[in-house]
Amino acid sequence: MKRSALILSALLVSLAVAGKLFKTGEYKRWNHVKSMVIYSPKHPLYNPFGGIHHVYANDRALPTVKKSSRRNFPDGSVLAFLLYELKESGGVYVEGKKKIEAFMVKDSERYPKTGGWGFFAYDGKGRNLVKDMRRDCFNCHAQVKELDYVFSVYKE
Ligand code: HEC
Repeated sequence: MKRSALILSALLVSLAVAGKLFKTGEYKRWNHVKSMVIYSPKHPLYNPFGGIHHVYANDRALPTVKKSSRRNFPDGSVLAFLLYELKESGGVYVEGKKKIEAFMVKDSERYPKTGGWGFFAYDGKGRNLVKDMRRDCFNCHAQVKELDYVFSVYKE
């Protein structure tokens, strides 16, 4: 098989993996790492990340996401980012509509140009949001290279 065909088939496999995660919401049964509310339009991440989000790690990623230095996630690690709108209701804030589901899938052979991570994201209706992993996702995650490109740290 030609190299380009190999790359294409590898890409289709990982798209299928992320697509399956999207459909099943399986990550909700993984390990909850953290949650965060971005409520102020003044925050630089408000657009597009305003709302309440939760981060989940699969079992393979868990020991490494607990470290705050010298991280090197093993292949097969997956992190999920689930963002809902924030709604005010009778004095409390609750989750509104789903806005974004995003995934980072570690496969160092497949994604050498993006730190070994495949980046996938969908809007609330499951439509693909990523055209270019590097430009749309990796360049910002590159700020935390020393954390192996994963911002979140699991607190006991
Ligand atoms: C402008 C910067 C920026 C861009 C662009 C960005 N992210 Fe993130 N991402 C963050 C930050 C900051 C966090 C950590 C949020 C927290 O601490 O709760 C994060 C968290 C995540 C997480 C949870 C793991 C982690 O790193 O904490 C995933 C998965 C994720 N992003 C995927 C993506 C995908 C896929 C894209 C591209 C569509 C993307 N991100 C684009 C800044 C960005």
